Amino acid sequence: MSATEGSTELKIYQPPAALAGSAHVSGMAAYEAMCQAAEADYEGFWAGHARELLSWKTPFTKVLNESEAPFFKWFEDGTLNASYNCLDRNIERGLGDKTAIIFEADGGEVTKVTYKELLAKTCQIANGLKSLGIKKGDRVVIYIAMSIDGVAAMQACARIGATHSVVFGGFSAQSLRDRIEDTGAVAVITADNQVRGGKQLPLKSIVDEALALGGCDSVKNVLVVKRSGAAIAMTAGRDLWMADVVASQPTSCEPEWVSAEHPLFLLYTSGSTGKPKGVQHSTGGYLLHAALTTKLTFDLKADDVFWCTADIGWVTGHTYITYGPLALGGTEIVFEGVPTYPDAGRFWKMIQDHKVSIFYTAPTAIRSLIKAAEANDAVHPKSYNLSSLRILGSVGEPINPAAWEWYHQHVGGGRCPIVDTFWQTETGGHMITPLPGATPLVPGSCTLPFPGIQAAVVDETGKDVPWGQGGILVVKKPWPSMIRTIWGDPERFKKSYYPEDFKGKYYLAGDGAIRDAKTGYFTITGRIDDVLNVSGHRMGTMEIESALVSCTELVAEAAVVGRPDDTTGEAICAFVVLKRPRPTGDEAKAIAKQLRDWVGKEIGPIAKPKDIRFGDNLPKTRSGKIMRRLLRSLAKNEAITQDTSTLENPAILEQLGDNH
Ligand code: PRX
Repeated sequence: MSATEGSTELKIYQPPAALAGSAHVSGMAAYEAMCQAAEADYEGFWAGHARELLSWKTPFTKVLNESEAPFFKWFEDGTLNASYNCLDRNIERGLGDKTAIIFEADGGEVTKVTYKELLAKTCQIANGLKSLGIKKGDRVVIYIAMSIDGVAAMQACARIGATHSVVFGGFSAQSLRDRIEDTGAVAVITADNQVRGGKQLPLKSIVDEALALGGCDSVKNVLVVKRSGAAIAMTAGRDLWMADVVASQPTSCEPEWVSAEHPLFLLYTSGSTGKPKGVQHSTGGYLLHAALTTKLTFDLKADDVFWCTADIGWVTGHTYITYGPLALGGTEIVFEGVPTYPDAGRFWKMIQDHKVSIFYTAPTAIRSLIKAAEANDAVHPKSYNLSSLRILGSVGEPINPAAWEWYHQHVGGGRCPIVDTFWQTETGGHMITPLPGATPLVPGSCTLPFPGIQAAVVDETGKDVPWGQGGILVVKKPWPSMIRTIWGDPERFKKSYYPEDFKGKYYLAGDGAIRDAKTGYFTITGRIDDVLNVSGHRMGTMEIESALVSCTELVAEAAVVGRPDDTTGEAICAFVVLKRPRPTGDEAKAIAKQLRDWVGKEIGPIAKPKDIRFGDNLPKTRSGKIMRRLLRSLAKNEAITQDTSTLENPAILEQLGDNH
């Protein structure tokens, strides 16, 4: 029986005794005591951690300000600097010569930087940015691959109080342009190109293309890091090599002390409607949760080697690469490449080579590596020495119990707890997660809320539903690292997360959840809006539909739904009506390829539909509404058992079935 069905036969994994004995949170009683402390004095709980984990230039006297709810403020009269906390603070604690980052390039070359070196590099970039007139409050877009330069560029923005907005290197020129325009960025930091899986892929030329699309007049400079020396065009007066800008800059830079509420970064993510939204995060509250969750969820200790495989273009890379581990003085891996190059043993080899002790990755990666390992012993984890591992983590999508068991047994040798961390771009850090030295684990469940987080499952009216019954996931109280607003669109913020028809009082995550009838453990049942999760990447169905219909030459109408996929969790399935007769056979294949490439150009390769089907029309009600539930069944190649009496054109269903 699974956690969603009851609790009598749950497979439970207790924390290993040695780990539990020495963990920051040791045993369930300690976890419960933390939860009770938060319950008894909510503000005092967070304030205590904020004083312990962060250095403040001006100590805060106010903790939570709810007067403009749902625009909550935390520690608002305190001042601090995120880069000071991640770098200088550690050097002052005697960690200057400790390795901060072990960088492994796509081809395997390793570069290490200590805290002192990372600070010097960050300060040089910060001074370089200042020399170009970039100042507190300006926005800087960063479009770069995984690199020490990428992390240092983010830290440098934080140092001078500029708000960074990192755009994942897989996004297209059009997506990059949209984000640059929305942020009003004064500069873009990029590299000549990126190297992934042995291939060189462009970055700078995509920036050029994005800027040429128009609407980016705010951009005064493009700073280019040299990655591979590829030939690129430089526009005089606008484009500068990063090396030239920083060469003569001092290696120290007084931090800009900002209010705790100062926007540290904007990160774009997909919603159910419209264009991606710029999620705005604060400095103080965000950094607190980044540090606290890194410490407790991963039980990070002084001699750990921490590896989060996410890209800095996503929130996981922000919180668990750029900010959390560094705020704690940890040693971490930054990896440029992909898990399957030069072969699917890459992750295991890197864990072995660098003696990684905490490993945090996505279920999609695990599932694809299982397939490879089962086909070839040489890339199976058993062919590597993974004895350095003590904790494993999972993020971004539900981890199915079979993948969980494999990860636990073959990667973790049966001795490493798996922390299945549920959270979102908007939440800034972990919300529902096991703590490795405390929480008994149940595969497929993200278990219990992080101490202080008031997660609950409710019905449409906001009333708690009993355990064992599915409902809507909410967070009842504001927490320090929560989204502050959607950049430039406070109304959309309110509507998306604190909608009136939901009484406007709880944070609405956009996911469904169910709590186990006996243990109260949470299992996330998936999005309740039109957002898909493909390989842990969030995609709005409307966004992909708009991209398809923007191919005005070909497309009359399009509807996009998700369907379950063994490897990527969900796959994108598009139903398309063309402005020409419905194609079949090779012609259908050729047009599908053309449309896939189009979406790749409009959004990025991650948004390309896996399946494109053509029809003379879409299934609609008599009033013209597309019946998406039917499309979902068609996408899964399921027999249609739903009521189709309101369907105007039943014949269309056959056409849209699996027609290739
Ligand atoms: O649906 C949930 C899913 O990913 C969504 C958040 O996506 P994003 O903002 O891109 O952040 C991903 C990295 C934190 C959520 O609304 N999700 C995330 N983690 C889990 C998950 N679903 C199930 N289990 C998880 N551990």
